[in-house]
Amino acid sequence: MSRINSAGELEDLRKEILSKKNPGRPCIAICGGTSCLGLGNQGVIKAFQDEIKNKKQADNIDVKVTGCHGFCAQGPNIVIYPEEICYVQVKPEDAADILSQTVIGKKIIDRLVYTDANGAKKVYRNEIPFYSNQVQNLIGDNARIDPKKIEDYIGIGGYAALAKTLSMMSPLEVLEEIKKASLRGRGGGGFPVGSKWETTRNAKGEEKYVIVNGHEGEPGAYMDRALFQGNPHRILEGLIIGGYAIGAHQGFIYTRHDSLELRANISEALAKAEEYGFLGKNILGSGFDFKVEVHLDVGIFVSGESSALMRSIEGKPPEPRPKYIRTSVRGIWERPSNLNNVETWANVPLIIDKGAEWYAGIGSENSKGTKCISLSGNIVNTGVVEVPFGMPLRTIIYDIGGGIPKGKRLKAAHFGSAMGGSIPEKFLDTPLDFDALSKLGAAIGAGGLLIIDEDTSMVSMTRFFLNFLTNESCGKCVPCREGIKQMLHILDDLCDGRGKKSDIELLEEICEVTKAASLCALGRTASDPLMSALRYFRDEFEAKIVEESEKR
Ligand code: SF4
Ligand code: FES
Repeated sequence: MSRINSAGELEDLRKEILSKKNPGRPCIAICGGTSCLGLGNQGVIKAFQDEIKNKKQADNIDVKVTGCHGFCAQGPNIVIYPEEICYVQVKPEDAADILSQTVIGKKIIDRLVYTDANGAKKVYRNEIPFYSNQVQNLIGDNARIDPKKIEDYIGIGGYAALAKTLSMMSPLEVLEEIKKASLRGRGGGGFPVGSKWETTRNAKGEEKYVIVNGHEGEPGAYMDRALFQGNPHRILEGLIIGGYAIGAHQGFIYTRHDSLELRANISEALAKAEEYGFLGKNILGSGFDFKVEVHLDVGIFVSGESSALMRSIEGKPPEPRPKYIRTSVRGIWERPSNLNNVETWANVPLIIDKGAEWYAGIGSENSKGTKCISLSGNIVNTGVVEVPFGMPLRTIIYDIGGGIPKGKRLKAAHFGSAMGGSIPEKFLDTPLDFDALSKLGAAIGAGGLLIIDEDTSMVSMTRFFLNFLTNESCGKCVPCREGIKQMLHILDDLCDGRGKKSDIELLEEICEVTKAASLCALGRTASDPLMSALRYFRDEFEAKIVEESEKR
């Protein structure tokens, strides 16, 4: 393939790719995501490949290994095109039947169809409530493309936003479009992306950097990985557009060292993007140069913190540093560096392609677009869901998530993993919104939503989070290092029957100091799970003390 030199050439290529596709040709898209991998998708993939070879159907039927489809609880998942028939919990021994009965014979196999709690069968993807209640602007493409094939991405309109950017827009126009869309960062803070880009753009210094934070160290959060692994070109396209708007010619991807498939897909995407002329010198004939380097995390939670991450890219230990000067002004090697997470970058091509007005039409007043959420815990449908901001939590948990297993009651919805907060059942009609949830003490964070049922003790749950954080504090500053440890000791005492009356007050004091005096976000928010638990479930903490003191 020779390099593409203009927006027109890209469009010609897209038409050529589509003209070679027969829309009626069957294609079996098998989820190659991490959760389905654990559930045996490798055997399923091989079974289909063998079966197609044995039946000499390679010229008639395609098999595609894709990224995560989202419905992880039901894996391994497959979608059969063009009808979009969904089969769940597929086993290697089902491959022969699927091929002969469904793909060739056009008959539905009942046992492989999703069946809801009332016994109703849902055959097609758009009938399954898990999917039909979502707005999958970002993750929806996962089930349609092979992340290792750039042609698949180009075929669905990929890199058209980059072509539009470079051929029709000035850097300032791109910046204005992002501002108009009111895109807010999806990494946790919800900070306006346009302002952050502008700070880096206006900061002194010729050399500037743009970075993808693909570290995602929060336990229970896997939506960024699902997006990155399933559609790496979209993230890359967003990054290149961001580089152009900010005036950066160098991008960095900081991502997980422990996910081989993710790393392989990113490497392949970079190589292909370079080959096609979306990276390197004179991109799409525009005169804009941009290159990307991949760095792997060192497997500790705090390396996802912006200043720690940047030190890690410099080759130093990933310790946070005080941020009286922001990293967007002085980051990697003291140069202006703009960091956004995977999901934030994924939104950028969409905004440029469809326009800020379209984008700002989705969501709530102050939180625009959609949000990817990893649903986990005591919920029927664990997986990755994407919904518009403004959707009530109840809809996410009950209509999409299928509710709490065994008809139990929900006790709490916990956002933001170990550094997040829990809210009780009475707030479930709150819309998914950065500010509304933050006010309740349960900021969305990166988007991990853990569901806690009535049988779970909030004291034990909080102890679990603090235990995790004790091991993850880098130890650099005393309030975080010692504060978390002391909170954990007191929670151990409460859980093990040694609780004292003064413990709750002491816990609150330590929370306050740790929050106020820690250097980075880890220490500053480490007390959030405890504070929210004390705010809404104080009786459980008090009951521990009464119960246990009565025993003495
Ligand atoms: S707050 Fe905690 S994690 Fe952050 S620098 Fe201080 S000790 Fe390290
Ligand atoms: S990993 Fe297969 S659906 Fe999520």
